[in-house]
Amino acid sequence: MAILPVLKAPHPRLTKVSRPVAQFDRALEELAENMLETMYAANGIGLAAPQVDVHLRVVVMDLHQEDEPPAPQILVNPEVLQASAETATMSEGCLSLPEAYEEVERPARVTVRYQDLDGVTHTRECTGLEAVCWQHEIDHLDGVLFVDHLNRLKRDRIIQRLVKEKRLARRTRDGAVRPAA
Ligand code: NI
Repeated sequence: MAILPVLKAPHPRLTKVSRPVAQFDRALEELAENMLETMYAANGIGLAAPQVDVHLRVVVMDLHQEDEPPAPQILVNPEVLQASAETATMSEGCLSLPEAYEEVERPARVTVRYQDLDGVTHTRECTGLEAVCWQHEIDHLDGVLFVDHLNRLKRDRIIQRLVKEKRLARRTRDGAVRPAA
């Protein structure tokens, strides 16, 4: 198992569309295990493969309550089959957008389909946080971030802050390797 680096916005590879998984093999299991470890290490509740620079339709999630045991979920080729006309608004965050939290409006209920690590297909209905998480993670597989659902002004403000932070981090790193005069 390994903790993988998480791509941070704005990064061009976060906007790429991921391709479906065709092979249910040991490599897929390993990817899912590493994604779960990465998600837990970052205190996340969901992570999509493109966030760790693997452009395959794989998502991991764990929505257990703090007083419950861990409940890891591995979703291969997940898709939304049906979405309710009724919407709900919830505050969202993302491991690829550090420290950005904004209210996003999405369908309140979704019917979803996915495959497990053995390639077996499952269908279920989700509401509440689960419905939000499914939609947020499936968006990643299509190169969409939650800020893309916000108005332009809010989105740009968040992205500009991240650009500035990246620039600052780079400068600090460069400064550290420069020999003292
Ligand atoms: Ni995310």
